[in-house]
Amino acid sequence: MTMRALAVDVAAGACRIVEAPAPRPGPGQVLVEMKVSAVNEMDVQVRAGGWARQVRQFRKTGPVLTGFEFAGVARSDGARIRAGQRVIGYSPVLDGPRTHAQFAAIDERDLAPIPDELLDEDAAALVVMGLTAIEVLEAIAPLKAGQKALVIGAAGGVGAYGVQLAASRGAQVTAVCSAANADFARRQGAAEVRTYEAAAYQQGDAFNLVLDTPARSSFGEAARYMARGGTYVSTNPTADLGGFLRAMLSPKRAGWLMLLRADPARLKRLIAAWCAGTLRPVIDSVYDLSDADAAFDRFATRGKQGRVLLRI
Ligand SMILES: NC(=O)c1ccc[n+]([C@@H]2O[C@H](COP(=O)([O-])OP(=O)(O)OC[C@H]3O[C@@H](n4cnc5c(N)ncnc54)[C@H](OP(=O)(O)O)[C@@H]3O)[C@@H](O)[C@H]2O)c1
Repeated sequence: MTMRALAVDVAAGACRIVEAPAPRPGPGQVLVEMKVSAVNEMDVQVRAGGWARQVRQFRKTGPVLTGFEFAGVARSDGARIRAGQRVIGYSPVLDGPRTHAQFAAIDERDLAPIPDELLDEDAAALVVMGLTAIEVLEAIAPLKAGQKALVIGAAGGVGAYGVQLAASRGAQVTAVCSAANADFARRQGAAEVRTYEAAAYQQGDAFNLVLDTPARSSFGEAARYMARGGTYVSTNPTADLGGFLRAMLSPKRAGWLMLLRADPARLKRLIAAWCAGTLRPVIDSVYDLSDADAAFDRFATRGKQGRVLLRI
């Protein structure tokens, strides 16, 4: 059996559709027919020639080099999941099979069934960035009602869900985003919006959480406007290892965020947050697989609102 798949011509920095052999599920895996798969920063970086080691590994199993979060339909039986069930999944970011293709063979532990009411696009929009926001707001820095959060990059995937979850906990959220996205950030639950353009947008408050989604700040910088016991969380903690050392000697904390895979319990928690209304999908745009270059370009454009998706 063959399938439609997205291949990246790294030398040309462009995507194209190819016909490729469909994968066969191995032990512990389920064959998933992809319906919608999101675009992530790693995909854009792969197209630009990044992640060489991972790309070499992905090439061993076929031409597909991009995509790792999705909504689809199981087409084979697993131990828990039955053929025909609608599922979401997070294929491990560093070494899992890529999902910008008609089919992928996914480890069953990286999948969870979804309710009928959760649409494919909404489900795919939630997976990794919703899980990330849950990890920050429930595991790393659980906020109490009335505490203050600063969410930098509040109109992006992690940022929008971070604002939603923090607000649902009763926290007072200050969102930082482009001026054009101020209303969008307020609709996610931000009490106040500051723009990147505003001088010293971080100052004037004692935040209990600073969530830095573009990872442009550092613990040292954020600590100046954090409350005692407050936590700085960056989406790229490896870029600020010195900050982690400083945090050990400080009454303020640096939270280690590294969500490289999920598990059924986490995915179930994500679905529960959607059912409870504390996480609401944010979709900037949806492209056909054949328009992947436009989707990748859109992802890399400042000013988007939420997730960019590929309809497979
Ligand atoms: N460590 C982990 O476990 C983990 C988990 C999930 C994601 N991530 C990483 O988190 C990052 C964010 O992911 P995402 O999907 O939420 O991305 P995204 O949707 O592109 O959001 C990033 C936001 O950052 C802002 N931004 C971009 N460049 C900026 C700059 N130079 N200065 C200031 N702000 C800038 C943008 O705001 P405007 O468009 O409003 O300007 C954008 O809304 C990615 O690098 C991703 O790989 C890490």
